[in-house]
Amino acid sequence: MNLAELKNTASRLMAPDKGLLAMDESIPTANKRFEPLGIPLTEEYRRKYRQLIVTAPGLGEYISGAILFDETVHQKTDDGCLFLDVLKEQGIIPGIKVDEGTVPFDGFPGETITEGLDKLSERLKVYHQQGLLFAKWRGVISITDKTPTTAAIKANAFTLARYAALCQQAGIVPIVEPEVLMDGDHSLQRCLEVTTEVLHAVFNALYEQKVAFEGMILKPNMVLPGLKAADQSNAKEIADATVNCFLRTVPAAVPGIAFLSGGQEAELATERLNAMHQQYDNVMPWALTFSFSRAIQQPALDKWAGNDANVAEAQRLLVNRARLNNIARRGEYTPDMENE
Ligand code: 13P
Repeated sequence: MNLAELKNTASRLMAPDKGLLAMDESIPTANKRFEPLGIPLTEEYRRKYRQLIVTAPGLGEYISGAILFDETVHQKTDDGCLFLDVLKEQGIIPGIKVDEGTVPFDGFPGETITEGLDKLSERLKVYHQQGLLFAKWRGVISITDKTPTTAAIKANAFTLARYAALCQQAGIVPIVEPEVLMDGDHSLQRCLEVTTEVLHAVFNALYEQKVAFEGMILKPNMVLPGLKAADQSNAKEIADATVNCFLRTVPAAVPGIAFLSGGQEAELATERLNAMHQQYDNVMPWALTFSFSRAIQQPALDKWAGNDANVAEAQRLLVNRARLNNIARRGEYTPDMENE
């Protein structure tokens, strides 16, 4: 393992004031986002949309790395430039989603396990040769009266750790994403308990698999009440629960934590990230930033809606969301900035 290379990539990804852009929607997920807007569910429209993103003027000022889906790695702009090269010109490091999605965790109703470990080493070698310097794998944990089970937590922690170990052997920084879903009516406290247990299991498994904490990035959920909970908690309560959870579970050697947005409203995700920096900047040993998909892309996707005439305005909305999240990373965001 070349730890110096991994550390170098991780520190570039965690560059001050920047964050990551997740644009790695699988084909079914892209279809789910396109369908309500009437956008054709074709490879060409996914290419057009991703062209809009990678060519957005100024994106590289706020985004250090972009997570791609395999299809996107081979795609080109209208004038024949590989998206990979366009990203590099913007100063954005390209990364790749390498998991192959979730399937039911048989015997454990309502729980899932993530697939994709078979032949992963070979795939990673090819990706590294193509200049993809980091990867992502998402494990999913759901909260209900009966879940998560210890078995599902342990199985997902093991697969995340095995993936991370293989990435590091291939010179690729693993983004380790154990996502505790927001679905349900559970309390903030219950999400805190589950997220704490999941992160302990994940870091234990990472240690067992000899993953170098210095050469990885954690991509967790914020600690949030369920979407249908009566008490939705304010940004300060969420910041307290989230940062204290990480202080107890995430080793200081990990260079960075980059949040998924998980279906939060874009503005709320920004406000909550901001609250964490306002209150805890002096005590956090890791960089704390964003790796949002929906909370950066959604306003732009709504505006574009498959129409070439809307590209420039959609790009402006995309870059603006990235900019506001950068301001939140400094703890300097205020909601009135949304109207500027
Ligand atoms: P969201 O920010 O939309 O949750 O997506 C992040 C991600 O990468 C999911 O795997």
